[in-house]
Order: sequence, then structure tokens, then C-alpha cells
Amino acid sequence: MRVIECIKDLKAVVRTQKRQNRSVGFVPTMGYLHEGHLSLVKMSVRDNDMTIMSIFVNPTQFGANEDFDKYPRDMDRDMKLAEMAGVDIIFAPTVKEMYPDGYKTYVEVEDITKVLCGKSRPGHFRGVTTVVAKLFNIVEPEKAYFGQKDAQQITVIKKMVKDLHMNLEVITCPIIREEDGLAMSSRNVYLSNEERKAAVILSKSLFEAEKIVLDGEKRKSKVMEHLVKRIHSEPLAKIDYIEIVDSDDLKEVEVLEKNTLIAVAVKFGNTRLIDNVLVGG
Ligand code: PAJ
Repeated sequence: MRVIECIKDLKAVVRTQKRQNRSVGFVPTMGYLHEGHLSLVKMSVRDNDMTIMSIFVNPTQFGANEDFDKYPRDMDRDMKLAEMAGVDIIFAPTVKEMYPDGYKTYVEVEDITKVLCGKSRPGHFRGVTTVVAKLFNIVEPEKAYFGQKDAQQITVIKKMVKDLHMNLEVITCPIIREEDGLAMSSRNVYLSNEERKAAVILSKSLFEAEKIVLDGEKRKSKVMEHLVKRIHSEPLAKIDYIEIVDSDDLKEVEVLEKNTLIAVAVKFGNTRLIDNVLVGG
């Protein structure tokens, strides 16, 4: 496995791959790897001749009062985990390499970035689409792998790829969870012991909602009522949002039918966690 920091060097490697007709799979991450990230790698290794993972904590997707500076980082550990999982190249550019002085260009997907996480994190998705578009241009993958954990991110990136005629396939991978159900996240390390125990309410309440729907309840109001009640039953949980939307256009639905996304964002202390289930898929 090689670690490459320069865009120029990575492009040279990609060129060689293309000349040899070898397919490139791409897994973009911000590092501090866990089983969720590694599950995307596994899919890419299975499907492609070469797997490139990026590790880049992207400043443009963090708000001024967010955790860019204290976002967890551990390159040595990430390198070991990535290599074991079968990554061929880690692309780990500096902020200066990605955003040199005088940088001016941003990619923005409208409307669907203003709801759910976009409402509580203005500018977040503009940063995500900008960096992902740049990474796609550098890596030129045939396939790129993203986790369902960040459901809105997938919807937004798929829209960008379609609208900008980008030449790659976006593959969605299932949410990987801890044994008690908590969705894995690099940010889980911020949780105190009490908060970590309390955080299980997210997956618990979502799985209950899923069961209620499977048992025949299709009214949004009823499903919502249950979710609010269950999450509020946990004193450490502060609800940011609970939304029931169509997973393609992220518009609210009144009746849970095909491809309905039930998504929640909840704060435990200063840590904001997200989770979701897709029903009627
Ligand atoms: P990051 O939070 O590091 O996540 C990288 C990828 O791993 C994303 O596609 C995310 O959905 C996926 N992932 C995270 N936790 C997961 C879990 N428990 N199960 C399955 N997949 C999981 O998302 C980002 O970074 C950034 O926004 C990025 C796309 C890299 C752009 O900067």
C-alpha cells in the first residue's frame, strides 16, 4: 500500500492504471477508520482492480462552530487498518494541496441540501459536494462507495453526479453498527460513558418505527409520535430533527410507502449523532 499526498503523483498512478485497463474503486473518508469505512473498502476490493481511499478532513464542510480542529485523527492506525482491508493507495492531501491560496470554486446542489442535516448545518453539503467533485476529478474512479449512514449525503452526491454528467457509479453500502445497534461513527469517541449508553436510543427507536411500519402503520403522524416519545424518554437525548421523507427528493411524506427514509439527528452533550432506516425499499 502506498500513501500519496500530491495530486500530481496520484494522477500519474491513475493514468498508469487506465492505460492497463484496470478499474479503480474509490472510498472517500475523513479517516479515524472504523468497520463502517472498512465495509466500503471490502465492496470496492471485491468489484475493482485497484482501491483508492482518500483520508482528508475537509475544512469546507465544517461550520465555524463545528469540530474541524478537534475531529479525531490517527494516520498510523488508519494506515494499518486500510492496508489490512485491501486498500492499494491512500490519498492523504494537505488542506493547502486541496485548497491552495486563492481557491475560488464550489459545487452546490440546490434544495435537497437545505433540509434535514442541511438545515442545522448550513453550508455543510456545499463543502461535501465541492470536495467530492474535486476528489472524483483527481481519482477518476469507475465506482465510488458511500455509506447509507449518511443518507442525505448519498442523495446529494447522486444528484450531483447525475446533474454534472459525471462518469462514475455511486454505490450505496449498508450501515454498520456496534453490537448494541449504535451506528458506527468516528464521532462516537466524543461520547462519555453515560452518553454512549444513552445513544442506543437512536437505533432502538428507529428499529421500532420500522417494525410499526412493517406491521401495517403507514401514517407519518403515528410513526413520528412513537419516535418523539421514545427518543424523549432518554433524558440525555436532545432532538435536532426527526424527519420522514422520500429518499430520492427528501420531501416530507404523509404516508410511508416506497423508499421512505426515516432519519434522525440527536445531540448527546455536544455530540450530534445521526442515524436512519429506509422502509418500503
Ligand atoms: P466520513 O464520515 O469519514 O465517512 C466516510 C464514508 O464512510 C461515508 O460514505 C460514510 O457514509 C461511510 N460510513 C460512516 N459510518 C458508516 C457506518 N456506520 N456504516 C457504513 N458506512 C459508514 O462522509 C464523509 O466522511 C465525508 O463527508 C466525505 C464523503 C469523505 C467528504 O469529505
